[in-house]
Amino acid sequence: MREARRRRTFAVISHPDAGKSTLTEALALHAKVIAEAGAVHGKAGRRGVVSDWLEMERARGISITSAALQFAYDDCVINLLDTPGHADFSEDTYRVLSAVDSAVMLLDAAKGLEQQTLKLFDVCRHRGIPVLTFINKWDRPGRDALELCDEIEQRIGLRPMPLTWPVGESGRFRGVLDRSTGEFVGYERTAGGATVAAEYRLAAQQAHDEFGPDWRRAVEESELLSAAGGDFEHAPFFDATATPVLFGSAVRNFGIGHLLQQLVALAPRPAPRPDVRGEQRALDAPFSAFVFKVQTGMDPAHRDRVAFARVCSGTFERGMVATHAATGKPFATKYAQQVFGQQRDTLERAYPGDVVGLVNASALGVGDTLYSGKPAVEFPGIPSFAPEHFAVVRTTDPGRSKQFRRGIEQLSQEGVVQVLRSDKRGEAAPVLAAVGPMQFDVAVHRMENEFRAPVRLEQLPYRVARILADAGQRVVVDTRTSEVLHRPDGTPLALFADDMALRSLLRRYPELELRPVVGSG
Ligand code: G4P
Repeated sequence: MREARRRRTFAVISHPDAGKSTLTEALALHAKVIAEAGAVHGKAGRRGVVSDWLEMERARGISITSAALQFAYDDCVINLLDTPGHADFSEDTYRVLSAVDSAVMLLDAAKGLEQQTLKLFDVCRHRGIPVLTFINKWDRPGRDALELCDEIEQRIGLRPMPLTWPVGESGRFRGVLDRSTGEFVGYERTAGGATVAAEYRLAAQQAHDEFGPDWRRAVEESELLSAAGGDFEHAPFFDATATPVLFGSAVRNFGIGHLLQQLVALAPRPAPRPDVRGEQRALDAPFSAFVFKVQTGMDPAHRDRVAFARVCSGTFERGMVATHAATGKPFATKYAQQVFGQQRDTLERAYPGDVVGLVNASALGVGDTLYSGKPAVEFPGIPSFAPEHFAVVRTTDPGRSKQFRRGIEQLSQEGVVQVLRSDKRGEAAPVLAAVGPMQFDVAVHRMENEFRAPVRLEQLPYRVARILADAGQRVVVDTRTSEVLHRPDGTPLALFADDMALRSLLRRYPELELRPVVGSG
């Protein structure tokens, strides 16, 4: 219980280029995991966050899996889960959010809320995940701070509760007003932002003397915020109806220490997780965990498969034999260490909130539960997210149809793509559904190289999916321009070319019951 209380497990949600890699590095720098930033971020050699992290691991020998960065800070253990956010943006990103206790929403001060942030936020809302907001890039010209807060409230309905408030508009960043103490917090510049920026504090009067109108404006705006209900309260943050807001600059290391302190002080610790029957699995119950991500090909020398599991209760000890809830079979964990870099202490044991990487986990699929002891426990599966790309897949070699079926089944189980079927299309022509088109490339590649079943894709003209609440209504949807397919669990999914097509069908058949899929925005 003591170890569980020390954990803070979160992910950063942001649009590409908002500064997630830079922020990750700045956090690692502040937590003294690395001595100097800048070696990793930088255009040359940046090939997406995953490779950044692997590179960091190689360069620094720190404990990063491709799924989580773990470090100690102020008597807490922070698990920062990676959400791939670049070209390979896909369902993986969404699934990671099922394994966190809170999220940091990172916004670019010049751009505010952007498309992918909105989608990811939708997942947080769906799961009730508390969100802390960090407004980044305040060192360069951007939008007005009040306007950004307004946008958060208007567009996603989260009440902003700024903990700090910038002194000086974006681009003329002088420091922040710490709204809990009324002091000014200034940051010393360091060369290239490569080392921790020293912080200094000034009392209100001193700040007034030094910064004049900038300080006065910050104080006035802070008072306005207080009058409008913008002071921090714990309950609405935990209920995910309000968000604490911090301002800073990841690249200069401004405001990062504050963010870490607030994560430690405010962010929720691991809590009991409900199982499929709705019963809470106590943190001190025997070990249990669920798989939120499966990755193949991390080690090019072997055809390996790593399952990343989040510990929900008890203590994981390397070598323990757990039970795989889906099959009831034993699962040996002796290879758990290989993905954990060089920190021996983190690989021998893991506690609620931590991520365990299990090597050679060919039996494990996304959403699966592992547990030890009695009674048996199973956590609910991870919901699938709104796909926006659809394609029929067929093998081009009829002699390989058995391998084709096995490969498609495997990809579905791993969650590489969603596999949809209908009687009309038949077994030999399932429909692949993806959140991002990159998922198709991965599927085609693996079908050819791993299962030796070459395939051809035929894109379908759909972009919008809704759950059909009453399967009996399918005849209405199955037309020339829309179609109903089934997920592996039987859920009927209605597919439309666009919102207009969806609305027009609803006008004709107002009794049609369609529910949004998570992430439909
Ligand atoms: P991402 O992982 O979210 O995609 O973003 P990443 O950290 O790669 O940052 C995207 C760009 O934004 C980078 O610039 C990075 O330096 C810059 N950036 C990140 N944080 C800040 C900040 O606080 N202030 C300013 N001014 N810029 C920031 P780039 O031009 O793509 O690369 P680089 O050559 O600067 O490294």
